[in-house]
Amino acid sequence: MTVHIGAKAGEIAETVLMPGDPYRAKWAAETFLKDAVCVNQVRGMLGFTGTWQGHRVTIHGSGMGMPSMSIYANELIRDYGAQTLIRIGSCGGMQDHVAVRDVILAMTASSISTPSRGIFRELNFAPSADFDLLAAAHDAARELGVRTHVGGIYSSDVFYDERQDLTDQMERHGILGVEMEAAELYILAARYKRRALAVLTVSDHLKTHEALPSADRERSFGDMVEIALRAAFKQD
Ligand code: HPA
Repeated sequence: MTVHIGAKAGEIAETVLMPGDPYRAKWAAETFLKDAVCVNQVRGMLGFTGTWQGHRVTIHGSGMGMPSMSIYANELIRDYGAQTLIRIGSCGGMQDHVAVRDVILAMTASSISTPSRGIFRELNFAPSADFDLLAAAHDAARELGVRTHVGGIYSSDVFYDERQDLTDQMERHGILGVEMEAAELYILAARYKRRALAVLTVSDHLKTHEALPSADRERSFGDMVEIALRAAFKQD
């Protein structure tokens, strides 16, 4: 047990999928895993461990925002030995060629600040995905016929952003989408020599203001889970 995770030693798998929403973790575990067992309920944050095609997997919520992601990723890595951590979540599209329902594989995650800012101070560290996971996720998305983009995203500290000037600069520099967790996950993976990736469905669009209808959200979320699982266990 840790401060925020009630799982006993050995109850967390080396591969952890991390949706923001704890109920998404429950849905994914019930839908994709065999013999899924709930291993955490502290503060309503749900985690489940089961198997997928014989491989042990934990699906654990991250909560919203980098401070929350930081708590769970730190404990999963440092106390439970998680080796591969894949965020599965939604993002806002920021480019004309990125449409609602598309999947973004976040190669890098820019930010104004993260919980690790106190360590980096004047350094502009470049948080990036694990290349093998990224390549495997790209292959999986192709196999599944999911429209996919690979590139930079922005991990914001606010959902209700007031900095249109910054959004404009990011658009100009090719940032594909905005979410709120990936940068700190990538930083922690770098610090502890683990593998990390963010697989993101475009749920809304900052330019067109289109939003994914709720009926489509489940299917898109399922695509992400499938991409993440295939990527995590790809043998090469
Ligand atoms: N901003 C931040 N996070 C998000 C968004 C957004 O527009 N859409 C989905 N996650």
